[in-house]
Amino acid sequence: MSSFKTLEWAGDAVLLLDQRKLPAEEVMLACRSAEETARAIENMVVRGAPAIGVCAAMGLALGAKQIKSNDSAAFAKSFETLCARMARTRPTAVNLFWAIDRMKARFAREEKRPVSEIQNALEEEALAIHAEDIAVCRALGRVGAEVVPDGARILTHCNAGALATGGYGTALGVVRAAVEAGKRVHVISSETRPFLQGARLTVWELQKDKIPVTLITDSMAGHLMQRGEIDLVIVGADRIAANGDVANKIGTYTHAVLARTHDLPFYVAAPLSTIDLRTPTGAGIPIESRDPEEVTRAGASRIAPEGTRALHPAFDVTPAAYVSGIITEMGLARSPLADSIRDLFRDPGSK
Ligand code: MRU
Repeated sequence: MSSFKTLEWAGDAVLLLDQRKLPAEEVMLACRSAEETARAIENMVVRGAPAIGVCAAMGLALGAKQIKSNDSAAFAKSFETLCARMARTRPTAVNLFWAIDRMKARFAREEKRPVSEIQNALEEEALAIHAEDIAVCRALGRVGAEVVPDGARILTHCNAGALATGGYGTALGVVRAAVEAGKRVHVISSETRPFLQGARLTVWELQKDKIPVTLITDSMAGHLMQRGEIDLVIVGADRIAANGDVANKIGTYTHAVLARTHDLPFYVAAPLSTIDLRTPTGAGIPIESRDPEEVTRAGASRIAPEGTRALHPAFDVTPAAYVSGIITEMGLARSPLADSIRDLFRDPGSK
């Protein structure tokens, strides 16, 4: 496990490690309502697809507790409004919608019970989503550790670690599991302009857990691959389409193309909750557009002239053809990815 807590349920609040302040300050922020929790997701206090899902579920449980009405129809209406608000926070990570759907499904199962019992059930569901996320990341970590050679130099992008999940990580969950299996690994973290999740968060988290890590700028990856200084790439995902196209942090696609050029394996580590069977291909994945000021500034400092026109697509789509395998808690999906993905979801009893 990681040596810190990304998020925590406190009964009357959702506690979040404020990731905007890392690595300079380690501060827990208390969200005391569903609205405060939704704003924390929007403002990147918490980020990373699975962590966003867990946080949204906790925010809904908190909001449900605070609904004053004992009338079941009025309660249902208020809960629906909270779900709709939570769904407007960020568009790309499908885990957000997956978690909201799970909370709605639990609500539907409990709807006939007294309000206080529904509130308890929703709290129980949010805590289950959190616990399952950790277990699932551990399981996919064990699957992924098999493809990591001893002594591997692993390039990762953005932060797909304990900070981006309930507490173990997807891409960094594979790294953690490889270390736990006794393998020596060295992570190369690309800084991930413009929000710097690689520099600020991945390096912080790995240093904290004493896993060797070296920081590079995004543009250095090709050079290192050409010189034989990277053995494989492992990244996380925000949404994987049914055909295996992968949306992840902007810059991921560039690493995938470079990996192909240099004949290096390119793996995506993600739980099944990141796979969106309702979206056939990557073309259907909504890509979040963030404030261009995040590009024209580095922290508080302006790095481009006043009035600079800038773009900020926060994610890109790596076509399935560039993906060597998708590491999930149900096993490793390999090419043809569309078929392997379908198999992952097949009920084992029906085989
Ligand atoms: O904008 P962010 O920081 O939420 O983007 C996060 C990523 O792109 C991660 O790589 C992805 O969510 C996988 S997290 C296990």
